[in-house]
Amino acid sequence: MKAIDQGLLLLKNEEDTRALGLRIAGALEPGDVVALIGDLGTGKTALTKYIAEGLGVAEEINSPTFTIVKEYRSGRLPLYHFDVYRLGSGEELLDIGAEEMLDGDGVCVIEWADIVADVLPDDAVAVRLEYAENEGERTAEFL
Ligand SMILES: Nc1ncnc2c1ncn2[C@@H]1O[C@H](COP(=O)(O)OP(=O)(O)OP(=O)(O)O)[C@@H](O)[C@H]1O
Ligand SMILES: [Mg+2]
Repeated sequence: MKAIDQGLLLLKNEEDTRALGLRIAGALEPGDVVALIGDLGTGKTALTKYIAEGLGVAEEINSPTFTIVKEYRSGRLPLYHFDVYRLGSGEELLDIGAEEMLDGDGVCVIEWADIVADVLPDDAVAVRLEYAENEGERTAEFL
């Protein structure tokens, strides 16, 4: 994935989050890993939905909180959507067989990626989402 943006972005509403997701999706290449970091409700799943939309995924995206990972095959590239909130470490991510997905030809988008940071590739694109001043606003920072 090529660099698409640097620094801090203000997402004034969900439409801005969608625009960011579509841009990220447009830049994704096989094997890319997008590491999403941010508190509850900052929009990690929302951003993932829009990345999926940009990839042309036809199915509805639901947060894979209980299954940890969900795979979508209908887009331009296979999408592996992880939510590792319930895991304790990167080792646990490898225990569920994630290495194949991380090293595969699809793209991985990982919510709560800070928990498993030690097993993610060095060239993962990390995005930190935070609440901004006004209701409905978020910031996104490429780390
Ligand atoms: N600018 C914005 N960008 C994204 N979502 C927004 C924005 N403003 C408000 N929202 C709302 O914030 C909520 C974000 O929820 P979402 O499930 O995407 O967060 P999350 O970071 O995945 O949470 P969790 O930690 O529970 O997985 C949604 O209800 C969404 O409509
Ligand atoms: Mg979520």
